[in-house]
Amino acid sequence: MKLVLLGYMGCGKSAVSNALSNSLNLKRIDLDDYIETKEGKTIADIFKDHGEIYFRKLETSSLLELLDNDEAFILSLGGGTPCFGNNMEIINKKSTAVYLSANIPTLVSRLLPEKAKRPLIARIEDEDLAEFIGKHLFERRHFYLQAKIAVSVDDKPVQVITDEIIKSL
Ligand code: S3P
Repeated sequence: MKLVLLGYMGCGKSAVSNALSNSLNLKRIDLDDYIETKEGKTIADIFKDHGEIYFRKLETSSLLELLDNDEAFILSLGGGTPCFGNNMEIINKKSTAVYLSANIPTLVSRLLPEKAKRPLIARIEDEDLAEFIGKHLFERRHFYLQAKIAVSVDDKPVQVITDEIIKSL
């Protein structure tokens, strides 16, 4: 089984993927980590040195590489992965996709302390973050909602989210 977790930055993809990996006894891969290892650079440095378009190409080729092998795994994507080219179509064809849906206040409270690590929001003023996320999520939700399973994550412990996902598989 290939299970793919997707959703906006800060929705909890890594934490849920970790818990799912333990519950289902499946290997876990994080697409950003995979890209960082392949490039020998952090995501922030890839954006800084080569720009977003370069990152998106790398992201798509890495996604295909992983979805095309025979391994079973849980793959957590970057927040933008489903929203470029025909990535979402490919994800749905080759895996079971799960959207972790978080509301704007949840995302703001989780992302405020971590802005610096994330190139797309690093330069947004704290007071503008909610508006930025609102607009960005509006553009991206259309892609996220194409996932086979959607789970709302607000105010839920990771294990509750994980159990809900397992029940819907
Ligand atoms: C991005 C999200 C990040 C990372 C990159 C771009 C995005 O991953 O891939 O900074 O476009 O939303 P996380 O969602 O794991 O933070």
